[in-house]
Amino acid sequence: MGRYAIEFDDLSLRIAQEELLRGVSGKVEEGCIVALIGPSGAGKSTLMSVCNLMRTPTAGNVYVDGREVREWPVRKLRQKVGMVFQSPTIFPGTVEENLAYGLKLHGQSLQDPGSLLQDIGLDSDLRTRPGTELSGGQKQRVALGRTLAMQPDILLLDEVTSALDVHAKLEVERTILRLHDQRHTSMLWVTHDLEQARRVADIIWFMAEGRLVETADADSFFARPQTTEARRFMEMMAEGETR
Ligand SMILES: Nc1ncnc2c1ncn2[C@@H]1O[C@H](COP(=O)(O)OP(=O)(O)OP(=O)(O)O)[C@@H](O)[C@H]1O
Ligand SMILES: [Mg+2]
Repeated sequence: MGRYAIEFDDLSLRIAQEELLRGVSGKVEEGCIVALIGPSGAGKSTLMSVCNLMRTPTAGNVYVDGREVREWPVRKLRQKVGMVFQSPTIFPGTVEENLAYGLKLHGQSLQDPGSLLQDIGLDSDLRTRPGTELSGGQKQRVALGRTLAMQPDILLLDEVTSALDVHAKLEVERTILRLHDQRHTSMLWVTHDLEQARRVADIIWFMAEGRLVETADADSFFARPQTTEARRFMEMMAEGETR
C-alpha cells in the first residue's frame, strides 16, 4: 500500500447553520501534486484549513502522515504542513529576517540563508533589503521561502500566484516545481487558473458546494471530466476566457 501525505475520511465541517464541507473523502499520495479546483465558495480554502487545524472538523477525520490531525502536537503539525496564501505577508525587516520569521517563533534560526535564497530563485543581494521594497513576485517567493525554511513535508498552496502578473506567476510556479523535484514535497494546490492546474498537477480534485465531486488523473480530467458538475464548470471557465 502506498503512503498518504493527507487522507480525508468522510470529513464534514459546519459553522453556525452552514455546511462548509460535506462528507469529503480523498487521499493525497506522498510526493504528489494535487490541484484543487472548483467555483468560488466551494470549500477549497476550508478543506486546506483543517489540514493544519486552523479549523477543526465537525465530523470525520483528517490524517496527516497516517496520524489524525487532533492527535498531532499543533506546532509539530504546522511545521510539517506548511501553508502559503494568495497575498504574501511581509513583516518589517530585511528579506533574511522575513525568511527566518517562522523558525524564530519555533526558537530556531535560519542556518543557510544563501541556499534558501537560491532555492526560491532570489538574488543573494536581496538578503539585506527591506522586505517591503520587493516586487509582488519577489514577496511571494519570500513568503514561500519562510514556509520552506520550516522544511515542511506537505505544502498547502492557496491561489499563490493569482495576485501576480504572468511573468511573476510563471517564475513562482517554476520555483515551486523545482522545489517539488528536489524535496518531493506533497502538495495540495488551489488554483483558479486551469492552465496552471494542467501544467503542475498529477491529480485534479474538483470541489463544489462543500463536496469533493470528482478526483482524476490530470490528463483524463482535462480530456473529459466524468461528472456533469465538473463538465459544466469547465465549460463556464472556457466561456469566461473567450468573452
Ligand atoms: N467563518 C465562516 N462562517 C460561515 N461560513 C463561512 C465561514 N468561512 C467561510 N464560509 C463559507 O464557506 C464556504 C466555503 O468557503 P471557502 O473559502 O472554503 O471557499 P473557496 O472554495 O476557497 O472559495 P474561493 O475560490 O472564492 O477562495 C463559502 O460559502 C463561505 O461563505
Ligand atoms: Mg479560497
